[in-house]
Amino acid sequence: MAEVVYGSEIAASIKNDLKQQMDCLRNAGKRLPRLVVILIGANPASLSYVRGKEKACQMIGMENELIHLPEDTKEQELLALIETYNKNTDVDGILVQLPLPEHMDEHKILLAIDPGKDVDGFHPYNIGRMMMGEATFLPCTPMGIMEVLKRIGYDDLSGKQAVVIGRSNIVGKPIAQLLLKANATVTVTHSKTKDIEKITSQADVLIAAVGKPRLIRSDWVKAGAVVIDVGVNRDENNHLCGDVDFEAVKEKASFITPVPKGIGPMTIAMLLQNTWNAYQIHEREV
Ligand code: GUN
Repeated sequence: MAEVVYGSEIAASIKNDLKQQMDCLRNAGKRLPRLVVILIGANPASLSYVRGKEKACQMIGMENELIHLPEDTKEQELLALIETYNKNTDVDGILVQLPLPEHMDEHKILLAIDPGKDVDGFHPYNIGRMMMGEATFLPCTPMGIMEVLKRIGYDDLSGKQAVVIGRSNIVGKPIAQLLLKANATVTVTHSKTKDIEKITSQADVLIAAVGKPRLIRSDWVKAGAVVIDVGVNRDENNHLCGDVDFEAVKEKASFITPVPKGIGPMTIAMLLQNTWNAYQIHEREV
């Protein structure tokens, strides 16, 4: 029977440490870190994610600004807005919530953000640095997964097989890179993979990031595996659930993250951590 690893508890302790840093700055009359979150349109999931980010900033006392623009905002207007925040020395982090409306070119928008304020770690420059194993802003969800692995003593994966299910730019591809850096032998599987369960059942560390409710059953999992569930789905009864059949897989795994209270809260904690890191770099540059 697996130990259930509550990312929510790890995130709370990280946020508590950051709150103390904010209190110190405030007491010393210093400038506080500032995060700007830009949301275009009214996608309900995106709205809920950005509210979570706003709430977390408020909780630790970090400055934050939510810019909510209509769905029909012109790409040029968004680019101009990003440029304003790039130049504003009071702003440490800029996050444009994805997905963007169809008429906008995501690549062009992400490229416009100053890489030094790219607290999402989505700018091609930062992705390139991550690929080369250099210090940079890491995408928040993969960074949160690595933090969870560290806390359970799985930060050196020498000799271990890691299997990632899903190949998105936000989770699948970057987590594969970070696992590789931690010395794992990494396999990335996806919707076109043949006999996927044969591959996943070899994994010492299994990362599920597909977005399909309870897809990963216990026969996909090796006994004693560490199972990290990144999925946030609604099942047929509209209940929140992950990509992993939690009740069955927890009987077989050694560690498992739940949904909710697993990786989701870690993503937000890492965003705050990245903004704090950006602030410290900006202050050194002044
Ligand atoms: N959409 C889903 N996850 C994310 C995220 O981590 N950052 C941004 N900017 N958009 C997202």
